[in-house]
Amino acid sequence: MTFLKVNNLKVYYPVRGGFFRRVVENVKAVDGISFELNKGETYGLVGESGCGKSTTGRTLIGLNRATSGEINYKGKNLAAIKPKEFNQYRKEIQMIFQDPYSSLNPKKRVLDIIAEPLRNFYKLTAGEEMHKVQEVIEKVGLNSESIYKYPHEFSGGQRQRIGIARALTLNPQLIIADEPVSALDVSVQAQVINFMKDIQKEFNLTYLFISHDLGVIRHMCDRIGIMYKGQLVEEGNSQDIYDNPMHIYTKRLIAAIPEINPSDRLNKIKYRKEVSEEYNNHSNKFFTEEGKAYQLKPVSKTHLVALP
Ligand SMILES: Nc1ncnc2c1ncn2[C@@H]1O[C@H](COP(=O)(O)OP(=O)(O)OP(=O)(O)O)[C@@H](O)[C@H]1O
Ligand SMILES: [Mg+2]
Repeated sequence: MTFLKVNNLKVYYPVRGGFFRRVVENVKAVDGISFELNKGETYGLVGESGCGKSTTGRTLIGLNRATSGEINYKGKNLAAIKPKEFNQYRKEIQMIFQDPYSSLNPKKRVLDIIAEPLRNFYKLTAGEEMHKVQEVIEKVGLNSESIYKYPHEFSGGQRQRIGIARALTLNPQLIIADEPVSALDVSVQAQVINFMKDIQKEFNLTYLFISHDLGVIRHMCDRIGIMYKGQLVEEGNSQDIYDNPMHIYTKRLIAAIPEINPSDRLNKIKYRKEVSEEYNNHSNKFFTEEGKAYQLKPVSKTHLVALP
């Protein structure tokens, strides 16, 4: 059984207008995406701002309601169950957010921030709770005194570790990480990413890793989905995506990555020119008349591209 299988998921936001606040149109934030996650892997979701990455993640943990489609998690369709029944899965599926400044309540001590999910699900004694909190705070590499402090007393990287500790308290299986390092310094980014990889091994976690940063995605992900306007235009492992991108949108993303290696710089400039020409002359062949992406089709065992 596939661990998580998303099938033709659509999430529309109603836009209301006029005197009666009627629904005048829908923002098609997610417009029919399908992908699978295997246990223990990291799947990266990449695409420009507003393409529907966060909406996808939020829908998987039940913060948004699916308009249609299926979210099969260990054989159960989460898109069709009642909100109350969803509670049981809240433990197993956790989210880490982009901004460690605003996602932690500034008025609460770290102890209370980390213990909150535990309090929602279990009736633990103060001693049991303390034990669990100490355990996760050590796992994320903060010292045990930290739990009596407030979020503002930590650096950005430390705050993100607190957010991760909070997500770990309930022994989750799937973590949706929505731009978890985008608000951090480059040097701190690497630390947090490596740390996320370590705990992934230790707890056998599956990640849906959302980012617009192709460098971070390459370092982190086993498989990658390229999202454009609510649809997937390409999916593959990092070799497929970085060495052999086939959809014009993916090519443009890859061409835009700065080349650090001086000896490859000229090649990159040439590639950028080719992609730009292809985009100017042939971009319409990659989209339908309504400007939508085609269905993903396999071009190899691992590589799928939305081509006519
Ligand atoms: N609550 C909402 N009501 C109406 N429209 C929304 C709402 N939330 C998001 N949208 C719209 O849905 C689309 C997808 O938004 P989403 O936040 O999923 O994008 P994203 O890929 O995460 O972008 P970013 O990289 O900027 O975080 C956008 O066009 C956005 O304006
Ligand atoms: Mg987002």
